[in-house]
Amino acid sequence: MLTAYDYSMAKLLDQAGVDVILVGDSAANVMAGYPTTLPITLDQMIYHGVSVVRGVNRALVVVDMPFGSYQGDSLEALRSAVRIMKETGADAVKLEGGQEEADSIRNIISAGIPVMGHLGLTPQSINQFGTYAVRATTEMEAEKLLQDALLLEKLGCFSLVLEKIPAELAGEVSRVVSIPVIGIGAGNRVDGQVLVMHDMLGITQGFSPRFLRRYHDLGTEITKAVSHYVEDVKASCFPNENEQY
Ligand code: KIV
Repeated sequence: MLTAYDYSMAKLLDQAGVDVILVGDSAANVMAGYPTTLPITLDQMIYHGVSVVRGVNRALVVVDMPFGSYQGDSLEALRSAVRIMKETGADAVKLEGGQEEADSIRNIISAGIPVMGHLGLTPQSINQFGTYAVRATTEMEAEKLLQDALLLEKLGCFSLVLEKIPAELAGEVSRVVSIPVIGIGAGNRVDGQVLVMHDMLGITQGFSPRFLRRYHDLGTEITKAVSHYVEDVKASCFPNENEQY
């Protein structure tokens, strides 16, 4: 699984064989430049969702429910999820949280909308924790996470993302639940992996958590190509004879 937020990149990811494309609320960070995921709105997530769905033929498309669109109000949660499904044409929604969001998850699933859960580091709760550090490192937190994972499975979530937790705990969750567990910073004893596309392609700068493997340095490549273009234009080398009418 990888994230995408627009038509052109979603098309490339789909062609490259990614099974699941997540329209993550990380769009708030990598597309809009906000320091947290909190400001992105439901309308903005729907815009990104529509754009991605148009580029995808094969992969499953999951759209993140943004902060404020489902927390603590299961009717509002259902309305938000219905809007996402109707207006984007995506296959499923993802939302953060365990026990606290049980009513919202139950309500959304009762309408026939597949839900992917998200436990561990839940960036929408940054103001509660105050840090993006590894989660569930104490026995009490680990036990809560395990119970939350079992609850999400019982509620009918079709899959679960585990973010930034110890690999051993992630492996244990993966063993006790039968739904696919997708990890990010959760080691390799899970069923699948997800990364933010801008991070794994090296477009984001100054973000290098231990779990991130950069598969390319696209940031440098793009800067090189653009400076080359600027030089050519300034030197009147672009366009040349063959590039004009
Ligand atoms: O928003 C996002 O990109 C995510 C992934 C990091 C799992 O939720």
